[in-house]
Amino acid sequence: MIQVLFVCLGNICRSPMAEALFRDLVKKEGLTHQITVDSAGTSDWHIGSPPHKGTLNILKDYHINADDLVCRQFTKEDFKAFDYIVGMDESNLQNIYKILGQPEHPKIIRLLDLTNHQKDVPDPYYTGDFQETYDLLNEGCQLLLEKIKKERL
Ligand code: 4NP
Repeated sequence: MIQVLFVCLGNICRSPMAEALFRDLVKKEGLTHQITVDSAGTSDWHIGSPPHKGTLNILKDYHINADDLVCRQFTKEDFKAFDYIVGMDESNLQNIYKILGQPEHPKIIRLLDLTNHQKDVPDPYYTGDFQETYDLLNEGCQLLLEKIKKERL
């Protein structure tokens, strides 16, 4: 089983949106039995909470299932458990390294580094623009699935 973890700051806006989006892509490609998907936040601010209303609304607009998305915090154990740890922006990566007490690792990547344009996923908690975030995550998630297929399937 290939395990993919999306990580942001709060785990209520970007990473749960990426989790739901990527799980939907995996399902559409018939890979559910080979890839598991989860998300976490580097902060403990929203542990136990559902995603932000804006994230739930846009997932609903695209008919993507958002059941069972509950905020949790990223832990050191996640580093061992997951094969791909995918941050949304540079500060997420820095926070992950801080929690792990180590700088960089090939399995820790920033999603939009897979694209050839902007590298950080804007945080709709501050921008209010959930559509912009959805579009970038959609593009990044498709490229991530291609990368995983090439490397592992
Ligand atoms: P996220 O966005 O990291 O994409 O989930 C945020 C959610 C909550 C907060 C900041 C960013 N907050 O300050 O509570």
